[in-house]
Amino acid sequence: MYLFARTLGLQVVFCHLAFSQVVSPVAEKCGPSSASVVCINRYGAVLPYHFYRSPNGTAEDPYGLTSVPADPSFAQVATADFLIFDRSRGLDILGPNPTYKHVFNVSQAIHEAPVWVPKLNKLFLSQLAPPPGYLPQLVVDLNVSPPTLSEYLSDPPVYAPNGGTFHNGLIYWCVSGGNMSIGGVESRPGIATLDTTTNKAVTILNNYFGYYFNDCDDLTIDRSGNIWFTDPFYSWFQAIDDTAPQMATGTYHFNPSTGAVRIVEDSLAQPNGIAISPDGKTMYISDTGAATGIYSPLLPSQGFVFNSTGPRSIYAYDIHHSGSISNKRAFYRALHGGPDGVKVAKNGYVVTAAGTGVDVLDETGTLLVRVQTSYAVQNFAWVGEEMKELWLVGFGGISKVTWGLEGQELK
Ligand SMILES: *[C@@H]1O[C@H](CO)[C@@H](O)[C@H](O)[C@H]1NC(C)=O
Ligand SMILES: *[C@@H]1O[C@H](CO)[C@@H](O)[C@H](O)[C@H]1NC(C)=O
Ligand SMILES: *[C@@H]1O[C@H](CO)[C@@H](O)[C@H](O)[C@H]1NC(C)=O
Ligand SMILES: *[C@@H]1O[C@H](CO)[C@@H](O)[C@H](O)[C@H]1NC(C)=O
Repeated sequence: MYLFARTLGLQVVFCHLAFSQVVSPVAEKCGPSSASVVCINRYGAVLPYHFYRSPNGTAEDPYGLTSVPADPSFAQVATADFLIFDRSRGLDILGPNPTYKHVFNVSQAIHEAPVWVPKLNKLFLSQLAPPPGYLPQLVVDLNVSPPTLSEYLSDPPVYAPNGGTFHNGLIYWCVSGGNMSIGGVESRPGIATLDTTTNKAVTILNNYFGYYFNDCDDLTIDRSGNIWFTDPFYSWFQAIDDTAPQMATGTYHFNPSTGAVRIVEDSLAQPNGIAISPDGKTMYISDTGAATGIYSPLLPSQGFVFNSTGPRSIYAYDIHHSGSISNKRAFYRALHGGPDGVKVAKNGYVVTAAGTGVDVLDETGTLLVRVQTSYAVQNFAWVGEEMKELWLVGFGGISKVTWGLEGQELK
């Protein structure tokens, strides 16, 4: 292009375009009309100058608020339901009739641990502090139209489940709250099961050789029934644990048949989401250390701040039959916020809740699609017979995506 332009004597403008590969427009409407879908051409790899995105403190600007005055097409990015980065695979993920719907407004508390129970066709989820000491969970009844949202209390109550999955007919909860006396009983972070038929909750792990865990945050269960879970400091930062951290953060392996618990990974600042690929060979663990606070047994809990230069990546690991992981590699740096919940679709694509949205990545960590929300999403779960409906939960909102990307069936 450069040489061609020069021979014709059109040097200035052509040379500039050829060397900087600005694509115009950067963004354009594309795909089905059932939702607001915007394609980002060439990943917006070269934006026209001057552009700027503020990484500011606790309120980092979403990608769509990047200021790109030289290309008015970019203004569409902020309001789209779906951003497509890879046109062919991205539109395939959406399918012919994608929809996005904000279904419920909920409190500004963290909402987490969404688990769909197939035989009830209900979505269980949790609400964390504020206020500290809040005990009930929430449940969405999908049998009625429109779905209803109500409070739910297990017997005994479980304080602040922050991660959840479904296995052998039970919900497995990563319990993040720690309290000397809540609902008349003591409760420490660990793992509990819930039988939604009888409403009975059973604690299956609540200590590490006498120490309290800091915050069982999220968990996944492998084919052998072993549980892998992350233990960051967020319960302390959010004042839902009455005891400051007693151990460093880490990721653990728990064998529920023997009770054995052991550390498998302790290199992440704040390990958070955790998931296993459908072939059982790859583990994904996110580090949301960009959201961090002060932890000291000598100081009261002081909340946390988001620092855009901190850790905010998902790492991939090889899983070995021995129940260990190795070969850590950086997999995906969140486009917005920190990668919180992580789950793997049936086809191996990795999905993560990051800031005000959910990202879909291929097996190399390349971003294909972003779902955009008006609230920060903490986690999500596939529901329904076809497993092509994704429910997102977070600060202030619960919303629903229907698309072509099928979830792994949990049994
Ligand atoms: C953060 O926001 C403030 C106020 O909007 C602005 O003055 C400052 O330049 C921003 N900092 C960065 C790094 O963008
Ligand atoms: C949620 O609240 C916003 C702002 O008050 C309102 O506009 C919207 O209709 C509400 N959505 C639902 C699903 O209740
Ligand atoms: C512990 O529970 C009590 C009673 O519900 C509540 O008032 C208090 O705030 C809770 N503390 C923490 C740290 O969760
Ligand atoms: C953010 O982290 C960097 C180091 O990664 C540090 O220098 C900076 O002070 C931090 N900013 C805030 C607001 O904590």
